[in-house]
Amino acid sequence: MKKIINLKVNGDIYELAIEPWRTLLEVLRENLGFTGTKKSCGLGTCGACTVIINGSPVLACLTLAFEVEGIDILTIEGISQKGSLHPIQESFIKHGAIQCGHCTPGMIMSAKGLLDKNPHPNKDEIKKALAGNFCRCTGYKKIVEAVEAVSEGK
Ligand code: FES
Ligand code: FES
Repeated sequence: MKKIINLKVNGDIYELAIEPWRTLLEVLRENLGFTGTKKSCGLGTCGACTVIINGSPVLACLTLAFEVEGIDILTIEGISQKGSLHPIQESFIKHGAIQCGHCTPGMIMSAKGLLDKNPHPNKDEIKKALAGNFCRCTGYKKIVEAVEAVSEGK
């Protein structure tokens, strides 16, 4: 049986009728079209589905949509600033931190969660914050460099 819920995504409210067992990841992608949030494992192990909820990175594949009704949900689509890419996105491009790009939205959301709370993290803090995000292409070095560059204002 479907339930009516209101989801607050990137500052906008969406009223939806959904089954209560559907994950936030499914609802973001399939109902609302926020396909920037990626699905890989669907089991909470890869970080591809990371979004920011109430200021902290959260795995959307392990979150039921109705659990986050009315709470601020930020996806990769919501971080651009006045039509321009977010500085973390710019830094990933500049430092060659993207190959296939499947992990990239989750990486960026985890990095944003870190930098919003700690604008100048050291390398170990960056690695720790990204430890739950798997990348099968880049070898991580460029990703860490890209986040470091934002923290150093480069
Ligand atoms: S899809 Fe959510 S952690 Fe892998
Ligand atoms: S760029 Fe391909 S998985 Fe990270």
